[in-house]
Amino acid sequence: MKITVLTLFPEMFDSFLNSSIIKRAIAKGVVSFNFVNIRDFTLDKNHRVDTPPIGGGAGLIMKAQPIIDALNSVKNENSTTIIFSPRGKTYNQKEAERYKNENKDLILICGHYEGIDERVNKYVDELVSIGDYILTGGEIAAVTLIDSITRLIDGAISKESIEEESFTNDLLEYPQYTEPYDYNGDKVPQILYSGNHEAIDKYRKKESLRLTRIYRKDLFDKYNLTKLDKKLLKEIDENDEEPDWYKSAINKGKKFMK
Ligand code: ADE
Repeated sequence: MKITVLTLFPEMFDSFLNSSIIKRAIAKGVVSFNFVNIRDFTLDKNHRVDTPPIGGGAGLIMKAQPIIDALNSVKNENSTTIIFSPRGKTYNQKEAERYKNENKDLILICGHYEGIDERVNKYVDELVSIGDYILTGGEIAAVTLIDSITRLIDGAISKESIEEESFTNDLLEYPQYTEPYDYNGDKVPQILYSGNHEAIDKYRKKESLRLTRIYRKDLFDKYNLTKLDKKLLKEIDENDEEPDWYKSAINKGKKFMK
């Protein structure tokens, strides 16, 4: 997949692209990037890309001409153009999967300052928000999309990691552990050492259900419980045998849910 980013601050992406999974994905040819500095396209003799809004008001608004000219220099038949805006559809894992599956080139337009000339929206395919809060610009939103889509593309990370992770199965992921067995008195569940994969899967499913019900009641309520899920939830409700450290860890969820 080719991802083109139109931005006034290409340097904001440097450390992100030079780290870990994304760096490897670029090296493997899973994804490629093109950064276009919107300022390079301004026709203003002083190289300005922003002016105060017509009609008055606070801040500076990005002008339409440099953005549209930058976009026209990279647009092609097989591309989806996205502009980041609090007005857009809220981004989530299903949207990341959609962009990955559509397999089109992405052109991401990052706005800055107090906003963008309204007429730019006519030239884009989609408006995307990464959540109900205001960022100073679209770059952080672009990084969020790039990261979440790249890791889904074949060859970026192992298939197992993607299959097992949170949200893909509409439940949160189960808890994970590392050595040592005993850390400050808190012990790794014995079942994980059993080598019995069926029992481990069952244990993990049970913990996913437990955590989702505590932390993300909204996801839990939407989830279709199987017969086994119902049995596991009954076990949770009837056998209160979790170690104290685990209860105190997972109960953090209860504190911030309401
Ligand atoms: N630009 C400013 N705030 C934003 C948000 N929440 N998502 C996407 N783009 C934005």
